[in-house]
Amino acid sequence: MKETKKKDLLAIDDFAEDLPKIIDWAIRFKNDTELHGEFLPLDGMAIGSIYEKPSTRTRVSFEVGVKKLGGQPLTLLKNDIQLGKSESIGDTAAVLSRFLDGITYRCFGHSDVVELARTATVPVINALSDLHHPCQAAADLMAITERGNMHGHIAWVGDGNNVLHDLLLAAVTMGHDVKYATPAGMEPDEEVIDRAKEIAQRNGCKITGTNDPVEAVRNAGVIYTDIFVSMGEEHIEDKFSAFEGFQVNEELVAHAQPDYIFMHCLPAHRGEEVTDGVIDSPNSIVLDQAENRMWAQMSLLTYMCNHDAWLSFHELK
Ligand code: CP
Ligand code: NVA
Repeated sequence: MKETKKKDLLAIDDFAEDLPKIIDWAIRFKNDTELHGEFLPLDGMAIGSIYEKPSTRTRVSFEVGVKKLGGQPLTLLKNDIQLGKSESIGDTAAVLSRFLDGITYRCFGHSDVVELARTATVPVINALSDLHHPCQAAADLMAITERGNMHGHIAWVGDGNNVLHDLLLAAVTMGHDVKYATPAGMEPDEEVIDRAKEIAQRNGCKITGTNDPVEAVRNAGVIYTDIFVSMGEEHIEDKFSAFEGFQVNEELVAHAQPDYIFMHCLPAHRGEEVTDGVIDSPNSIVLDQAENRMWAQMSLLTYMCNHDAWLSFHELK
């Protein structure tokens, strides 16, 4: 029977079963330049993106990606709309569902995007909340897959934050081991870790946590970091100072495999969590990650808003 339930992406494990295919689709579409401008699965559709926080990559990649698929992108900045002032999330979702075919939402509290997805009748994508950043993880695993010949584990050095949560879920879904190092007290969310460990067990891979960056990075094939203080956390006193010894610099990366890959979701605070020497080195794939936000989201949008087109493209290949 045909599936009619709308698809929402709140965390990357919502699509765990199909993630390998979603990434494969994105890689094939990126490389199949003859299809660009010809394959238009969002023709006649409008996708609205609500931002409560700043964005460069997410905003531009959604606007350009939706257009490339034949759709109309709309960017809705917090200060320009009624949401959060005189209108609730539920009423906003109900009204926008009458105009739009999909909504992306960058918010502070994760419960806000959960509420938007619950009350909207069109698919909703979490474009970053305090707990999850699924589009980033899809693009990151796409970049790792493209690079190929990945040996060794993925090491995370930094905060136990939104980017780590979806990286963990996506990495084990794609069969990679992960070792994360965070300062004591800044470990990832326990419920997310439990979900990731369940997937890891099914896929025969391993998740290890430590407070020692050297232990995490030793023999790693990938080193990933992010800013120490995320958007919305600026008020947390002394958070930054907890990260002494967590900078990804030349001395730390010397413990990884010589051909290790450096990753960062960007924006980077150069000189804080990473040195220029590391982020600008030939090992760094941060610009591939940024570009892949668009291709991965194009696969996700097609998967969610025109599933038959997504399937038919996949079956063709
Ligand atoms: N990585 C990422 O989400 O970047 P932006 O905040 O610029 O969208
Ligand atoms: N952890 C960061 C990611 C930015 C893309 C934040 O939430 O601010």
